[in-house]
Amino acid sequence: MDEISLIKKVAIASAKQAGRILKEGMTRGLTISYKGDLNLVTQIDTLSEQTIVAEIRKHFRHHQILAEEGHNYKSDSPYRWIVDPLDGTTNYAHRFPYFCVSIGVEFEGSMLLGVIYDPVRQEMFVAEKGRGTTLNNKPIVVSQVKEMSSALLVTGFAYNVRTAVKNNLNHFSKIVKKAQGVRRMGSAALDLCYVAAGRFDGFWELNLRPWDTSAGSLIVTEAGGTMSNFSGTPFSIDHPETLASNGKIHPAMVTLLTDAK
Ligand code: IPD
Ligand code: CA
Ligand code: CA
Repeated sequence: MDEISLIKKVAIASAKQAGRILKEGMTRGLTISYKGDLNLVTQIDTLSEQTIVAEIRKHFRHHQILAEEGHNYKSDSPYRWIVDPLDGTTNYAHRFPYFCVSIGVEFEGSMLLGVIYDPVRQEMFVAEKGRGTTLNNKPIVVSQVKEMSSALLVTGFAYNVRTAVKNNLNHFSKIVKKAQGVRRMGSAALDLCYVAAGRFDGFWELNLRPWDTSAGSLIVTEAGGTMSNFSGTPFSIDHPETLASNGKIHPAMVTLLTDAK
């Protein structure tokens, strides 16, 4: 098996294994600690991350790892795995069934593979650079909606919403008046998958981190969507602005987000 096929196999197997941990964890008591005023973490985030990282290290001892809960590994390898062991922890802690596992793999700084697994609905989203996006092995593409007035959008608010001056409320109030609807679901990685699947027409959020967007950004672009920052310049997982869409409504979203600044 070539290197890429093995990476894909390990990423999918680890996401499923972590997904089982998340599902099983929902039936147990959760130990909650706080990383900030609103930013919580449970013992299941940690267990999920340990499991994924152990699996990566077992097969690819030299690959770099950036993982939200701190199980990081640095080396001179051109490969870097970016792991969110549980995206949607607040939902999870409230037993609101919208959360996922997100695993992205970069090669020389560009996204090569994105794997996101929703264990509640058993939906596995996979994108490979240049080879499209699949949902449970079937190809998916973004929606065809052209007008903002017909668009169903999704956004989120960062954990610093109480204190940040730029907290997305301006952007939200502009866009909510133009779109058909705006949702706030609570898992940025899964929101990006829903854009890829055509369930949402667009998504925006401020202050996301690489583990929230790495896999999802490739899942969107490989499904034919567009990723950028709010002013329309190319997307980066290290930039605080994330805008994803079906491409057709992208210019209108850029205009609204730029006006709201
Ligand atoms: C969070 C979720 C949420 C978004 C936050 C993220 P976490 O990730 O993606 O939807 O609004 O900005 O930090 O903490 O649940 O992994
Ligand atoms: Ca996250
Ligand atoms: Ca997380």
